[in-house]
Amino acid sequence: MKLLVTGGAGFMGSNFIHYILKKYPDYEIINLDKLTYAGNLKNLTDVENNPRYKFIKGDIADPNIVNELVPKADAVINYAAETHVDRSIFDPREFAQTDVIGTLTILNAIRENDNNIKLIQISTDEVFGSIDSGKFTESSPFEPNSPYAASKAGGDLMCRAFWATYKTPVIVTHSCNFYGPNHYPEKLIPLVITNLLEGKKVPVYGDGRQVREWIYTEDHCSAVDVILHKGKEGEIYNIGTERELENLDTIKTILNVLGMDDNYIEFVKDRPAHDRRYSLDTSKLRNELGWSPQVEFEDGIKRTVDWFKNNESWWKEIKSGEYQKYYEKQYGAKD
Ligand code: NAD
Ligand code: DAU
Repeated sequence: MKLLVTGGAGFMGSNFIHYILKKYPDYEIINLDKLTYAGNLKNLTDVENNPRYKFIKGDIADPNIVNELVPKADAVINYAAETHVDRSIFDPREFAQTDVIGTLTILNAIRENDNNIKLIQISTDEVFGSIDSGKFTESSPFEPNSPYAASKAGGDLMCRAFWATYKTPVIVTHSCNFYGPNHYPEKLIPLVITNLLEGKKVPVYGDGRQVREWIYTEDHCSAVDVILHKGKEGEIYNIGTERELENLDTIKTILNVLGMDDNYIEFVKDRPAHDRRYSLDTSKLRNELGWSPQVEFEDGIKRTVDWFKNNESWWKEIKSGEYQKYYEKQYGAKD
């Protein structure tokens, strides 16, 4: 198979590229990435000379490059997006441009190629909004609360419309929170790990009792692998572990692995429109496609902490750049 992976220089896209190149010795990958602040070619140094892998710098919202690359692939896996909720609150425009117009540009390129190429749209549980009890199914209504979630919802709705109107072969995934190697340290888990490794406090929004579900990188890759090969066109699949954790418990698990105490926790101003709880019903993916996650949260956290300990130069370089300005703006103090 020839795959076009978009956003492959980011966190999960780079993990997926490694996963596929290792698992399928005859697959070829083109990685199209704009290299925003979140894109990092250091995530891919070990594959850069692999003859089955090629990197191209470009924007998924640019029809010229997308129309040129899409026909070279059997399937497109769209990881490219602006992804951070807090940044979307500062500056929503870029989110709509990439997450809606970028997705539309890929769909349109597929349509113009007789709908011969499959699209796997990597999306999020955040499109459903917050749920007090029960679980979101694939048919739950979209009620996004942040500009990020609204932008992802826009991209997903475009996928729905292309399937309905043109039979463009697309599958949409809604996933819970990812964590693992290469995770950009603006997100909760890598921010907590790297702050603690530097002996700094960790900022907890509001009361810290918000509920999230976390999936380790390898488990998300295996879910996308199964969906790519066995998923039904026009369908939607939730991806999650069904293990819910309050943010404070997630942070305490990390403190525990590092042998540190709760004094490192610092409560700060809450995020506007902060979703209280996400919860996904993943029975469709488990029952129809036979997938299940393999990595327990405590084990995944240990592996992730080890990765950050062993890759200090990777995250220290990130934290010394543009990140400083962002941290100051978001948390009101220098990192
Ligand atoms: P990330 O922020 O780490 O990486 C995003 C990548 O996309 C970067 O390499 C960036 O350079 C690239 N990119 C951004 N705009 C682009 C554009 N216009 N054209 C080409 N490339 C562009 O992302 P991530 O956290 O790995 O998330 C990957 C995907 O998974 C996103 O679509 C996100 O919405 C979705 N998702 C993420 C999570 C999570 O917990 N991180 C959970 C569910 C779904
Ligand atoms: O649910 C899937 C989504 O998960 C993805 O679609 C997004 O791309 C991804 O960023 C993530 O969104 P969240 O907002 O859930 O992730 P984040 O790591 O930013 O925050 C996780 C929780 O931790 C959330 O309740 C906010 C809280 N938090 C976060 C940060 C950065 C804090 O308490 N303090 C912080 O400093």
